[in-house]
This record gives sequence, structure tokens and C-alpha cells, in this order.
Amino acid sequence: MSVEDREATAGRLLRSSLDHSYEPAIDIDWDAPLVDGLWGIPRHRSSLYGTTLWDGLSEEQRRTLTIHEVCAVARMGLWFEIILMQMLLRYAYDRDPRRLHVQYALTEVADECRHSIMFAKMTERYGVPDYAPRPRTHQLGRLFTTIGTGPAMFAGALIVEEVLDQLQRESMRDATVQPLTRMVNKIHVTEEARHVRYAREELVRVMPKTNRVQRIAARWFAARIAYVIARELVHPDVYASVGIDPAVGRRAALANPHWRESLRWSARKLVPFLREQGIIGGPSEILWRKAHLV
Ligand SMILES: [Fe+2]
Ligand SMILES: [Fe+2]
Repeated sequence: MSVEDREATAGRLLRSSLDHSYEPAIDIDWDAPLVDGLWGIPRHRSSLYGTTLWDGLSEEQRRTLTIHEVCAVARMGLWFEIILMQMLLRYAYDRDPRRLHVQYALTEVADECRHSIMFAKMTERYGVPDYAPRPRTHQLGRLFTTIGTGPAMFAGALIVEEVLDQLQRESMRDATVQPLTRMVNKIHVTEEARHVRYAREELVRVMPKTNRVQRIAARWFAARIAYVIARELVHPDVYASVGIDPAVGRRAALANPHWRESLRWSARKLVPFLREQGIIGGPSEILWRKAHLV
């Protein structure tokens, strides 16, 4: 991947942000009724799709499960957005705010702030519990905000943004999916395309300047985020919404070949790029494999 000057890229991204940004509080009709018979996500992306547990559910229950699943995935996105906002703010804190790329980092914080509120409102609208990450993940996130700098920050951001992008891009075009999910996804996909551009280019610029220790640290950091995202993407409590024991549902999802394939599919653009940048490779790759992302 070739990159242009950092300030030129940031200038373009800032202009695009002015032209194509949303205010979810206004741009989404939060009072619109949900549509009977539609899904939270495309049915084949449910973590239980194709399992014997899935066979035992009615169509109505399957749809209910996918509503809980879309909110669980959004909650993981929200978890990471709050981490990313902190990392970006620390990045901006140390730099000259007149530089366009620093202004873009601040613009991205503003985007993520609106996204997090949007995901929270969607969960409320669907009447779904708060699928907050489990305590271990919550604490790990606190650590990420402290140690995530340089290549680790941009690689981490890309992992979450590109996995969610693939899932949301497919779902926003699917007529069997609830209009609320589709609109939320459309807003997110549009604004995240800029974040992906920014993070990819920054990673390409910064990697040649890293030393061996920084590269190894970035690899482990990225692998850890990838593992957490893949394993925790669907909170186990979602299965209780259709009468399945969370531990039983989680075990079935982790062993489900369809779900593993969905995870690999969601990372299919991300993985070759990170490999090219030297972020995937070496001993930490085991975590990527265990996460079914490669
Ligand atoms: Fe976002
Ligand atoms: Fe983002």
C-alpha cells in the first residue's frame, strides 16, 4: 500500500468528514416501529446458525436471538470505541494541534463519541440488556488505554474497525434485516471508512520507524485484541434470551464451523494487510489461529 503525505491525507479526511457525517440523534427515526418478521443481523451470521441448538429454535426465537446478537456486537464496538477515544486523546495531547493529522485524530474522537451513543440507543430501542464485556475483558480494556500507543494503537483500531465493517456492510444491504440495524450500520460504515484509511496509512508510515522491541510489542498487543474481539464478540448471555444456558450456547458457538467461517470472512481484508505490515507473524500468530481469524 502506498501512502501520500500525512497532512494531505488528513486534509482529505477532514473535508470528507464535513461532507459525509451523521448526527444519529437526528438522522435515525428512533420512534419508527420495528418490523415484524425481520432479523437483527442476516440469519447466516448468527453464532448458532447451523448448530443443533439452532435447529431446536422456532423462527421467532431465531429472530430474537439475532436482535440480541446485533446489540452484543455493537456493545463490543462501544467498549473498544471508548478505549480508542482515550488512546487518540493521549495521542493528540502530545502533539501540535495546528497539524491537520492531529485535528483529524480529534475528529475521529468526535465520530466515535456519536457512535457509542448510537449503539447505546439502538440497544435501548431493541429492549435488550446491556451486554457489557465480562470483568476480565473490562479490566484488560483499562490496560489497553494505558499501553496502546504508536503501531499498537493503530493496529488495534484496525482490527476492531475492519471486523465490524465487514459484518455491518453486509447487514446494511440485507432486506431481511430490521431497518434500525441497517441505518445504524450505514452510518457506522460510512464514517469508519475514514478511520480505516487513517489507521492503515499511519501504520504504514510508522512501522519502518519501529525497533525490534516495539514490533514484538505491537504484535502481541494486536494478537491479544484480535483474540478478545473474536472470542467476546457475542456475549454468552444473549443465549438466555431464547432459553439456552449461556455456557451451553457459548460452547456451541465456539465449536460452530459456520461461526468460525464468519469470523475468518470478517477478517479477510484485514489479515493480509497486517501480515504485510509485519503485525501478524511469529509466535503471537497462535492467538490469531485460536481466534479463528486466520
Ligand atoms: Fe465507531
Ligand atoms: Fe472508528
